[in-house]
Amino acid sequence: MSITILGIESSCDDTSSSVIRDGVMLSNVIASQAVHEAYGGVVPELASRAHQQNIIPVVAEAIKRAGIDKSELSAVAFTRGPGLMGSLLVGTSFTKGLAASLDIPMIEVNHLQAHVLAHFIKETPDDDHAPSFPFLCLLVSGGNSQIIKVNAYNDMEVIGQTIDDAAGEAFDKCAKVMGLGYPGGPVVNRLANEGNPNAFTFSKPHIPGYDYSFSGLKTSFLYTLRDHLKDDPDFIEKNKRDLCASLQATVIDILMSKLRKAAKDLHIKEVAVAGGVSANSGLREAFLDHAKRYGWKVHIPKFSFTTDNAAMVAITGYYKYMDKEFCPMDAAPFSRVVL
Ligand code: KG4
Repeated sequence: MSITILGIESSCDDTSSSVIRDGVMLSNVIASQAVHEAYGGVVPELASRAHQQNIIPVVAEAIKRAGIDKSELSAVAFTRGPGLMGSLLVGTSFTKGLAASLDIPMIEVNHLQAHVLAHFIKETPDDDHAPSFPFLCLLVSGGNSQIIKVNAYNDMEVIGQTIDDAAGEAFDKCAKVMGLGYPGGPVVNRLANEGNPNAFTFSKPHIPGYDYSFSGLKTSFLYTLRDHLKDDPDFIEKNKRDLCASLQATVIDILMSKLRKAAKDLHIKEVAVAGGVSANSGLREAFLDHAKRYGWKVHIPKFSFTTDNAAMVAITGYYKYMDKEFCPMDAAPFSRVVL
């Protein structure tokens, strides 16, 4: 008998729903929230309200595009955390109502685990691009920068993580001080493509092990702007392409050097990247370059699976369903949760 999972994602500012049947994606609908652009970052209160407005049409559309009836669903998987509490509450409460009305189980999903398992989403039944275990996954988003050793679908160890800012945050904060808007990562990426990555040098952290730090880079970037702006008030405008290219090159260098160390120490050559920052073209090139230079087998997600989406929640739900890992009706969301 087929296993059909409805996934619901509402951890931050995207309301998303997806249907996955036997591991194959039938639909993946995402409603993004433009309301935050004017504020230079996600406003939690506005995010929850937008989720309330979006969730019913988004879920209805996901079921319609999948070409199924809701009575065919085996379970509903939802993001329990980490994320914004008000946003998570909308997805969690909706899931409870739907699961109770259809008399099917609920499956809680860790958002970070879902980003990693996005690599197992099949778009057609004969898709066979999935990584084999064990593999390393660099998870880089607006809130996280982690190196994860993935032993199985449900067995992941965080072996390194940021001790301060995340990689996405470094992009966003530096973009903000240059007046490039929010989210800054995609704009920095676009400008970096036209700039010189060696034009400026920013500081890199020297911390042991596989942990990351991006706060020193952020400060060094700010000081560079401050020093040059004293002499030339138009410094940013004149140099934004080179600033973005140098910033991006430094972030990528920091990310890849720890990942190389982990791959070497653990003798793992299967390496994946996930999360919003994995959309970065420079980071993608660095992965391809490492595949050539170090014999890595690399896994780079499709752009549609880099940002928050419910297909990754549904696929995680699918593997948890196989293990009969259901959650009780009184499950409450967690804003902070580890893998
Ligand atoms: O995973 P994600 O959608 O959201 C969470 O943090 O959960 O990641 C968003 C982050 C933002 O910091 C955004 O600036 C960054 O991903 N990002 C990028 C690019 N596209 C998105 N950073 C660098 N280059 C990009 N092309």
